[in-house]
Amino acid sequence: MKYGTVGTSWITESFIEAAEESGKMSLTAVYSRSIDNARKIVHKYNAFKAHDDLEEMAAREDIDAVYIASPNSHHYEHAKLFLRHKKHVICEKPIFSNTAEMEDAYQVAEENGVFLFEAMRNIHSPNAKILKEQVKKAGKLRSALFHYIQYSSRYDLFLKGERPNIFSSDFSGGALVDLGVYPISLAVYVFGEPEKVSYHPVILESGVDGSGTLVLEYDGFICTILCSKIAHSFTPSEIHGEHISFVLDHVAPLNKISLVDRKTKKSEKLGEALNDNDMIYEIETFANIIEKNDLEAYHELTDLSRSVLRITEKARKQNKIVFGTEK
Ligand SMILES: NC(=O)c1ccc[n+]([C@@H]2O[C@H](COP(=O)([O-])OP(=O)(O)OC[C@H]3O[C@@H](n4cnc5c(N)ncnc54)[C@H](OP(=O)(O)O)[C@@H]3O)[C@@H](O)[C@H]2O)c1
Repeated sequence: MKYGTVGTSWITESFIEAAEESGKMSLTAVYSRSIDNARKIVHKYNAFKAHDDLEEMAAREDIDAVYIASPNSHHYEHAKLFLRHKKHVICEKPIFSNTAEMEDAYQVAEENGVFLFEAMRNIHSPNAKILKEQVKKAGKLRSALFHYIQYSSRYDLFLKGERPNIFSSDFSGGALVDLGVYPISLAVYVFGEPEKVSYHPVILESGVDGSGTLVLEYDGFICTILCSKIAHSFTPSEIHGEHISFVLDHVAPLNKISLVDRKTKKSEKLGEALNDNDMIYEIETFANIIEKNDLEAYHELTDLSRSVLRITEKARKQNKIVFGTEK
């Protein structure tokens, strides 16, 4: 499958490298607002053509798909352009700013007979599947604490008075939609959609959340999610059952999982060593769905993305966090 890219930061290069390693996708076109930046990536990865005109790239006949890693606020406009040109779209997380954008984009994808995927890398790794299967067998669960708490170098710029996109409401930024979506996706993947959601953010002067605590309530079970771009964590995430607990070194990537028996205190290692670049798993999943036209697997993914966006949208509404595109 031939594809193009939108956005030229490190995550795009990481995707290109994983795509090449997978053998499933071949880089043909690169878009940047700056033609020089696009050319640099084209030369580095032996792609075919650099573009600084998005319409022109979307209209190309020799592209089957696009990977979009533009700022969150631009995902909708960029995705729709490529969907209308009948290209499959792999869009970075968080897929869109709100559910209205998402439903519209899924409809455009369907009308044009193409797929629209959210690049949520953690839930595609084999360890996510292993965790889900083991949790099913673990008996009654009572609590879980998932977190993604990582001090951002862009916070230093923010403190100096700059407004990096990810700390700006105009670019649909904030800790919940940037980092919180990883633990939320894992929670929804493993436990399903919660009955109730409540979010308690630390709001920065730009109007977005620098950190926050999200509580997901299920029947007899509570999953607490911490996310932050303004502090750092050094502890693992955990799931607590009445008899079995799970310790996860991280939620994305999910490198190491241990299962611990409360009575015997014995710990068993689960999962497998992951590829250094964990984006390879999502690429394999998306390529298989496209190749086999596997609508069942596709709808499982769209349902998951819908649940996650419903949660972050509710959490933002509770706290009057409004994005630029919504004002
Ligand atoms: N899956 C992951 O592990 C992972 C990791 C990091 C980021 N992400 C996601 O990837 C996306 C991009 O994140 P990022 O941190 O790279 O964002 P970013 O640095 O703010 O922007 C990404 C790219 O978009 C273009 N861009 C920047 N500002 C723009 C503007 N004002 N208008 C239009 N285009 C603009 C730039 O490309 P050009 O200058 O070349 O046009 C830039 O390279 C986000 O959705 C983020 O959540 C995912």
